Amino acid sequence: MKINLVPTLGLKQLLLATFFGVTTLTACSSETDGEDANQAALTGDAERGRALANSSSCASCHEADYGGAGFFPNITPDAKYGIGSWTDAQIGKALVTGTDEDGDELCSLMERFPFSNQQVVDVIAYLRSLPPVARANQSECP
Ligand code: HEC
Repeated sequence: MKINLVPTLGLKQLLLATFFGVTTLTACSSETDGEDANQAALTGDAERGRALANSSSCASCHEADYGGAGFFPNITPDAKYGIGSWTDAQIGKALVTGTDEDGDELCSLMERFPFSNQQVVDVIAYLRSLPPVARANQSECP
């Protein structure tokens, strides 16, 4: 009896561990993939994005024209000085997880915004609607 019980428990625990392990891994990877897929399926509303950008004070750091100054980057659609060449997924990650177009971490001055996928695509639609500003960044973020 004792001999039978121990292996049974062991197997159950192993199965449970495997189950939770697999579940956690699946949840993690589908969250990351799903985020972009969900964002891609949504349509951004520039007007809502403008309201959210205003209430999030983006312009207090990125300047009123969003062209940046000093180490606050230019986030207008200018392809050379701004983020015109960034994909929606790259901009979305900068806003939510705080990484740049290469996946490197942005400095802590840039807030990590807890935006929903809809809010992310709204802000992106707004940023893409801005007039491009050809102004270079002067220095690196501290
Ligand atoms: C407190 C200041 C501050 C606020 C507020 C802020 N940002 Fe930033 N943001 C930064 C800084 C500084 C960086 C550069 C970080 C780095 O290079 O490491 C940055 C980087 C970015 C980037 C990546 C661009 C690039 O070239 O690296 C995007 C996109 C961006 N911000 C969008 C926004 C939006 C949209 C908002 C408002 C919802 C916002 N930021 C609010 C300071 C701020």
